[in-house]
Amino acid sequence: MINLDSYSQLNRLKKIFEKKGKEKQLISFRFNPEFGAGHHPHTITAGKEIKFGILENQIIKAYSKAKELGFKKFGIHQHIGSGIIDATDYEKPTEKFITIIEKIAKSLGIEFEFVDFGGGLGIPYHPETNPLNLKMYRDIVFKNFKKIVEKGEIGEPFLYIEPGRFISAESSIILTQINTIKDNGFKLFAGIDAGFNTLIRPTMYGSYHHIIVCNEKNKDQILKYDVVGPICESGDVLGKERELPELYEGDYLAILDAGAYGFTMSSPYNSRPRSAEILINNGNTYKIRDKETFDDLLRNQTLPDYLK
Ligand SMILES: Cc1ncc(COP(=O)(O)O)c(C=O)c1O
Repeated sequence: MINLDSYSQLNRLKKIFEKKGKEKQLISFRFNPEFGAGHHPHTITAGKEIKFGILENQIIKAYSKAKELGFKKFGIHQHIGSGIIDATDYEKPTEKFITIIEKIAKSLGIEFEFVDFGGGLGIPYHPETNPLNLKMYRDIVFKNFKKIVEKGEIGEPFLYIEPGRFISAESSIILTQINTIKDNGFKLFAGIDAGFNTLIRPTMYGSYHHIIVCNEKNKDQILKYDVVGPICESGDVLGKERELPELYEGDYLAILDAGAYGFTMSSPYNSRPRSAEILINNGNTYKIRDKETFDDLLRNQTLPDYLK
């Protein structure tokens, strides 16, 4: 499947097809409905100022040109952002998407093979956040889709959605050990062996990840800690002012909901090799990724002759 993000890519694609002698079959474009949403401005992917997708003023031209170039089957896509927890955020973009789909179908006589509503379905990172209302999401997206399909004007497309985080985020925790408890006279810090190199979301987006203590604890003694990592930046804070049972060096903490986008956004910053990954299934554990070593960090480096 080829899903283009810019009108300009059509000509490039045409040349590739011609060079390879391939028949031009299915093509799709990403529509930018100008109404975006997300847990942080960096993850909002629709709007006039945003790099993604093709705006209303060019979308008919894109499908018309694709038809003229000989493409025979069509899909359409939008993805408005990531980490959406309020289903009503989908209302305006869905409405606009549906209107545009009808417009393209009517004006160009195109029938769609698929309509892809993208992902973005969020999860409740904070224990007091309500989960996304899936019934409301269904009513906004699926019911509107069904209505236009039943009118018979856009063909019989498949409906696609692309939930990423919604499937994987809650599956994973980061298990980390406390190496230092510091009381600087003003504040308590719990220094751990995971940092923003391991999970960048709190530092990058200000995201909240719930943190719990793994070992049995005396819950009567609750104290407030900043849970901080080993990276040489003050922004290396995994949890700010968290109320936790009294902690000791050597204790283990679990940072929850790290399955999206945890490992994939991790890095070896500060020469810290990335962690191992363990799969737990029915009480059995399986190592699914080895811990990186210092040799791994150097493996792809090469020396120019004059330094040898
Ligand atoms: C085109 C597209 N679809 C789906 C997703 C998945 O988003 P999420 O994990 O927020 O559902 C992304 C994430 O960046 C994306 O860019």
